[in-house]
Order: sequence, then C-alpha cells, then structure tokens
Amino acid sequence: MPIPNAAEDAALECLDRRRSTPARQLEDPAPDAATLLRILRSAVRVPDHGKRVPFRFLRIEGDARHALGEAVAAIGMRLRPEAAEAAIDKDRQRFAHAPLVLAVIAVLDPADTIPDTERLMTAGCVCFAVLQAAQALGYGGTWLTGWPAFDAEVMAVLGLGPDERIAGFIHLGTPRADVPERARPDPAALLTDWTPA
Ligand SMILES: Cc1cc2nc3c(=O)[nH]c(=O)nc-3n(C[C@H](O)[C@H](O)[C@H](O)COP(=O)(O)O)c2cc1C
Repeated sequence: MPIPNAAEDAALECLDRRRSTPARQLEDPAPDAATLLRILRSAVRVPDHGKRVPFRFLRIEGDARHALGEAVAAIGMRLRPEAAEAAIDKDRQRFAHAPLVLAVIAVLDPADTIPDTERLMTAGCVCFAVLQAAQALGYGGTWLTGWPAFDAEVMAVLGLGPDERIAGFIHLGTPRADVPERARPDPAALLTDWTPA
C-alpha cells in the first residue's frame, strides 16, 4: 500500500473525523452569511450528471425557524388529530435547536434525460458536502429529514415548485461539546471482488 504523504494524511484525517452533531447540541454561533457562502462554495462542487445543478438552498434562521416549526406543528395536528401534545411540541421545536437550518432542495425534472434519481443523488452529495465543509471550519451539523421533508403542505409552506423535493434539512451551529464516536462500518467487510462467471 502506498504510504500517504503528510498533506494526504491531513486531508484524510479531516474526512475521517466527520461525524454529526445532534441538533440539540448545536448552539451559536452559526456560520455567518459570508461563512455560509464559503461552505456552499465547497458544497456545490458535487458530481452532477449533465451539469444540471439540480439543487438550491433555503436559509432558515432566527424567527423563521420558529415560524416554520409552528407551521409544521399545525400541519401535523391536521394530519394526526390524535397526536400527543409531546409529538406536537416536538414538531414545533424541530427547527429551533440549531441556530441555522439549511434546507437543500433537489430540483427534479421528469422530462429530462438525466433521471430524477441521479438529480436526487447529486442533491444528497451536496448535503454531505455542506456537513464536511462546515466541520472543516469548526462548525457542527446534522442532516435531518423526518416526515416534514416528505409532506406536500410543508413543501408548499417552503415555496417549493411541483418538481422540487427536500433532500435534507442541514442543522448547523457550533457543537456544545465533543460528540462521542460511534462504531463505523468495517470497509474490508463490505468489499468484495466481482469476478466474471
Ligand atoms: C437522508 C438522511 C436523512 C436523515 N434523517 C434523520 C432524521 O430525520 N432523524 C435522525 O435522527 N437522523 C437522521 N439522519 C441521520 C443523521 O444525519 C446522522 O447521520 C446519524 O445521526 C449518524 O451520525 P453520523 O453522521 O455521525 O454517522 C439522516 C441521514 C440521512 C442521510
């Protein structure tokens, strides 16, 4: 195996340190406007079949987080009138923990020759790249969806078009404390050689 040089080592070490910080453990400061754009500059460099740029971003911060939480809770109550107060409160607080939530919107187009699954994968890569770049700058984040990410009324509240979907809500801020590592898959156990029959 080739031995990586110091620069390669540092880059891989940064990748290997990646982990999510739960939204409840994210506090101020969030990336400011200039820092967010710096993060996005890295994040938009994703593989993109046909160079369609099948994604855009919605910044949800400050009072907008609470307004979205209220709207989501109201939709949740209409969908599940029997829901317990705790569940409704969870919806109300969904976007209130981290100081900044970035919705990554996948822009689909069923009429395009590039399949929507590929557009969605590109948007997913963006979500991951936002997490990587934010962590490289000392911030923490976590990629969440939950039922609101798949609900048509929530999408309408967010102003999504008919061919747009929510790839993820990326909650961003400064980690309150170090997040313990979790067991990671063993790559060697996942790798096999395909051989022709
Ligand atoms: C598409 C997607 C959606 C996710 N949605 C949720 C979610 O709604 N709630 C949740 O607890 N974790 C969710 N996760 C998992 C977390 O983002 C995170 O990966 C997990 O807590 C493990 O942490 P790690 O990233 O450090 O491995 C989602 C992950 C992906 C890729």
